[in-house]
Amino acid sequence: EKGAYRHFMEKEVHEQPDSVQHTLSEYLDLVTGAAKPQSVNFATVDRLQIIACGTAFYAGQIGKYAFEKYAGLPCDVEIASEFRYRSPALTPGTVAVAVSQSGETADTLASLTWCKAQGLKTAAVVNVHTSSMAREADVLWPTHAGPEIGVASTKAFTAQVSALLALAVAAGVARGRIDATREAELVKALFEAPRLIAEAVESHRDIEKIAHDLAKATDVLFLGRGAMFPLAMEGALKLKEISYIHAEGYAAGELKHGPIALVDEKTPIIALAPLDEVFEKTASNLAEVAARGGPVIMIAPATAPAPHGDGIRRVDAPDCHPLIAPLVYAVPVQLLAYYTAVQKGTDVDQPRNLAKSVTVE
Ligand code: M6R
Repeated sequence: EKGAYRHFMEKEVHEQPDSVQHTLSEYLDLVTGAAKPQSVNFATVDRLQIIACGTAFYAGQIGKYAFEKYAGLPCDVEIASEFRYRSPALTPGTVAVAVSQSGETADTLASLTWCKAQGLKTAAVVNVHTSSMAREADVLWPTHAGPEIGVASTKAFTAQVSALLALAVAAGVARGRIDATREAELVKALFEAPRLIAEAVESHRDIEKIAHDLAKATDVLFLGRGAMFPLAMEGALKLKEISYIHAEGYAAGELKHGPIALVDEKTPIIALAPLDEVFEKTASNLAEVAARGGPVIMIAPATAPAPHGDGIRRVDAPDCHPLIAPLVYAVPVQLLAYYTAVQKGTDVDQPRNLAKSVTVE
């Protein structure tokens, strides 16, 4: 079933142009350049409460940035195991949104059921369309990643992000924040993602070289701003899960509030730096790290200006619309973890201590 690939994870990374395309097509019409109408009336929704675990939680955080930026729709995101037990204060007009590949994660399912019992409208962004969450929620927002075998989630994550970004555009249209011209621009940008993801997958050689060095590290920091912040945390999770290297994802602006104390010549710092409105801010954070002897790997478009400082290595990523940067930059992040794990000889598809679906608390 793996075909020519060494691992399911590698295969699933390569499947992303298709799974993203398929998922986007669920929510957007490429021909008309419009978002498809949704049964949730976003115009009357006051707030979204996204609930998820692990990688799905990071997808949810990326969704939050998009719902607030493009639709002016307030959005909270919480880890299901916390949400479930802390007696959260709910407000009417909130739609609870579970995000889950399996649709069976115990804490996410229990949170969804609880929200429903409190009288909230519920939705589920799930990849397994016959799952408990798909059946429990009032509204099913499917992702079309197909079966994901690798324990480390890849194509399910980008499918979740695709669905949430597309829904954020739909919400922006429904709430009068996005006019027809802007809608067409954003829909077109989203449909460019599959091609740019394929391009990012093709440039794996640079990543393999970096992974060779990462395999020697005991600690790695991932940095990003905006939607690249949750993606930095996803990158750290991926590296931890399959290469067993300690990694943390930080908002680049938080560096000087503590983690910069960790910077030394043995701690690689991976920066996700698309050419967006905060690129310059990220670049100056990287210059600060480089000045303290930290080995920086900057993942950025080839056209991005070089930050000041010696020891900054660059990995080229496709230039893209800021809306789709979390989809395009997910690829180098996944491949870094993948090749580092291959280099270390770990069991990539079945990492120690982990289960694909966490159906117990
Ligand atoms: O099936 P779910 O999306 O609900 O699973 C949530 C997490 O258990 C899952 O994303 C986990 O963090 C993965 N191992 C990440 O690679």
